[in-house]
Amino acid sequence: MLICHCNVMTEKEIERTIIEMLDEDAWQLIVPAKVYHRMNKRGRCCGCFPNVVETIIRVTEAYHSRAEVHADIVSHLDRVRELRVKFGSRFNERRSKGHRAA
Ligand code: FES
Repeated sequence: MLICHCNVMTEKEIERTIIEMLDEDAWQLIVPAKVYHRMNKRGRCCGCFPNVVETIIRVTEAYHSRAEVHADIVSHLDRVRELRVKFGSRFNERRSKGHRAA
């Protein structure tokens, strides 16, 4: 399906580019301009950008739901939990009970 009429780019080409970018860095922020730059294209009327954003979201979500990337998420969350246990949550950012503004 043709997504960008100005640059004659199909959905498959855009999906392939997004996956290439995710393979390089799975946690980078991908925006339409980055995808177009990678494809040596540029937005002209930019009417396709909402569809490209939807494609980026769909492809990125599918990419991250794959098992090997999911394992990275779990290990990262485990590390965060370890740090939380190690340092605890000593600091309470709320106001103290006796605090009065006036
Ligand atoms: S339709 Fe993609 S830039 Fe115009």
